[in-house]
Amino acid sequence: MADNSLFLKNLWYLAFHGSFLKKDKLVAKEILGERIVFGRDSAGQAFALRDNCPHRGVPLSGGWFKDDTLQCCYHGWEFNTDGVCKNIPAIAPGSTIDFSKIRVFRYPIKEVSDTVWVYIPEKRLHHTVEPKTSVPNLILDPTKKFLHVESVVLPANIDHSVIGLIDPAHVTFVHQSWYWRSAKKLKLKEKHFAPTPLGFKMVRHAPSNNSKGYTVLKGGTSTEITFEIPGNRYEHIQIGEKHEIISITTLTPLNENTTELNHIFYSTLPATRWFWWPLKRLGKKFIGQDLGVFMKLARGLESNPTLMLIGEPDAQAKWYHEIKRLWQKAQQDNVPFENPVKEQTLHWVT
Ligand code: FES
Ligand SMILES: [Fe+2]
Repeated sequence: MADNSLFLKNLWYLAFHGSFLKKDKLVAKEILGERIVFGRDSAGQAFALRDNCPHRGVPLSGGWFKDDTLQCCYHGWEFNTDGVCKNIPAIAPGSTIDFSKIRVFRYPIKEVSDTVWVYIPEKRLHHTVEPKTSVPNLILDPTKKFLHVESVVLPANIDHSVIGLIDPAHVTFVHQSWYWRSAKKLKLKEKHFAPTPLGFKMVRHAPSNNSKGYTVLKGGTSTEITFEIPGNRYEHIQIGEKHEIISITTLTPLNENTTELNHIFYSTLPATRWFWWPLKRLGKKFIGQDLGVFMKLARGLESNPTLMLIGEPDAQAKWYHEIKRLWQKAQQDNVPFENPVKEQTLHWVT
């Protein structure tokens, strides 16, 4: 049975890295259980339409795309990239039918720093909608581009995926590896948090000194980690005055049981150019470790066990649930969202 409260609407979701969208090619993708067809027109502009022909519902992604025209494979109806019907081949010339009244729903779409975002509205009453929110702030100057690290599909709903992303306590057990940290050197951590417009951030701090990976980047290194709904984690590392690293993980629910994780990366360090492949491997390794534990989690959840959120290590998970509930209420009541998170300090041992 569909759980209406699972997905957050009136927000932007990462559809894919820009490199996945080529001219003259249609890409079908399910997002929040909605079938969407994506493409790129001859001018390079991305578009997103509901992936159903308005005639009999055949997926438009199963048809043809040429000269900025989508053609359905069933009766050949033609649509422009705004979703407006241009031609119905079987209708005899001289007919009074106004084709332009027939429209496919067009999703708002934006491309920023080589990442493609789609807006999923609460209601699709007209042939398109005006977004109520803006595309997430990706920290990066919009003229610069993100590199794509990895995309994986987690066998879990969005809530479990988000909690896996912001949960500090699993790191010791899931991501433990000899060059990163050792389980024997556990330390008490104290982290300060502050609210952001759609979530919360671990305020700028020097990275923990039991993570060897960071000590390579000595000299005034600091990091700020932000989480915002629907499921985006932004890590901004500053190295000295000149350099920065931006590492972003996004979660896009495909449907009620699966969630796509994407990892994108940007760095001004010349070294990352030389170390890009090892770095990418490291990123993939981390995500692979999460995927491994999520496979086990999916098996565990089959028996629908009762779960718990305990103490400060799970505080962020509780905030997520509360933010989500209030976001949904604000959408229903059509009032501005008010973030329930207050500035505070959390402790945990990792
Ligand atoms: S179903 Fe698409 S043209 Fe008939
Ligand atoms: Fe993880």
